Amino acid sequence: MSLAPHIWPVTATVQAGRLFVGGCDVIELAERFGTPLYLLDETTLRSAMRAYRQAFAAAYPGPTQVHYAGKALLNTALAQIVAQEGLGLDVVSATELQVARCAGVPMAQVHLHGNAKTDAELERAVAWQVGAVVVDNLDELARLRALSGLLSVPQGVLLRIAPAIEADTHAHIATGGAAAKFGLSLSALDEAVAQTLATPGLRWLGLHAHIGSQLFALDQVVATVEILAAQAARLRDRFGITPLELSPGGGLGVPYTADQPATDIYHYARVVGAAMQSACARYDLPLPRLTVEPGRSIVAQAGVALYRIVARKGAQWLHIDGGMADNIRPALYGARYTAVLAHCADTLADVVVSVGGRYCESGDVLLREVALPSAQPGDVLAVATAGAYTLSMASNYNLVPRPALVLVGNGQARLIQRRETEEDVLARDIAL
Ligand SMILES: Cc1ncc(COP(=O)(O)O)c(C=O)c1O
Repeated sequence: MSLAPHIWPVTATVQAGRLFVGGCDVIELAERFGTPLYLLDETTLRSAMRAYRQAFAAAYPGPTQVHYAGKALLNTALAQIVAQEGLGLDVVSATELQVARCAGVPMAQVHLHGNAKTDAELERAVAWQVGAVVVDNLDELARLRALSGLLSVPQGVLLRIAPAIEADTHAHIATGGAAAKFGLSLSALDEAVAQTLATPGLRWLGLHAHIGSQLFALDQVVATVEILAAQAARLRDRFGITPLELSPGGGLGVPYTADQPATDIYHYARVVGAAMQSACARYDLPLPRLTVEPGRSIVAQAGVALYRIVARKGAQWLHIDGGMADNIRPALYGARYTAVLAHCADTLADVVVSVGGRYCESGDVLLREVALPSAQPGDVLAVATAGAYTLSMASNYNLVPRPALVLVGNGQARLIQRRETEEDVLARDIAL
């Protein structure tokens, strides 16, 4: 049995049965850094970033910009890699913005997203002159307008629309429907444009939409591009303005199990690039900057999660030392994963088991009815495609410290986020 190459990091190999990632023996890493442990393979990460930049530059004759959506996973080292690879960064909080700044991501290439931005977040974004505040609703716009009176350089604004497209994905990660909480309804868009244009401290850049995550069918992304262009043309006719930038968001899906197709960034870029060109030709719009915001498809495959098997229950259950507090996705929306035992990663999986997390919820089942070789307490379980929406959504449920994150490459392992300590977890605790 060999590893499915489209699920594991590109550097993943099996040597004498043992799983290696980035040239490192993952069992040694588990011993050195403890478990649960998240690995990030630098080669896979940088390859995905480069593929995005190259694919969009080749697929679209106008300017292109790839922004990594930091919500998928963010820390300073990762943001430094984003900057080194020439990508921009999407942030959704003041702290993510701080990480972007510490990492040296040029502020002009940072977009602030969010449907409920606080005043403090808006203030920081305009003070640091981010490339765009992606305005979600009219109330936010009113607060941004009030702030913009103090600005000498106008703040760039993208208006996020709700394109009324129901993406073919899990309801929890579909974001473009007419009733979704995100974005301006098309009926509120004109008001938002009029207010933006009437505010000297704001500069309208264009339109944004994001219909959801883990998308495989690209026809809805094409439909989103069509709506962005149609709205841009309508606004041109009504207000005499032309968008500098149109952004159909992120969302490209990744495989979590061997039967799902490999992510094809080049195909995605060709489809989106062609859709933008043909829509702009149809509406007689000059080609805008095409901005995309991938998160999952940049970081998911680079990630591997390592757990220690702690106990068994009969033939059906393996209990591990992590679970829903470091990876909420299976409990939240039934996400499925692929795993191997790190010491026998190429052994035929001949037992069907479920892998239960350590947390006090019966829904905390990391892997439900998967095939694995027979396992013992102490074995290291390696879970593939674990980079996106795992650690970034981690909690301290049951007051368990959150795992460490290690960057691996060329046989070296660098700690880029240390494991939380009990002191960290209790740092905010105040006795009576
Ligand atoms: C506005 C926006 N842009 C980009 C993304 C990234 O999506 P994905 O990680 O699926 O590429 C998200 C995630 O939901 C988002 O909300």
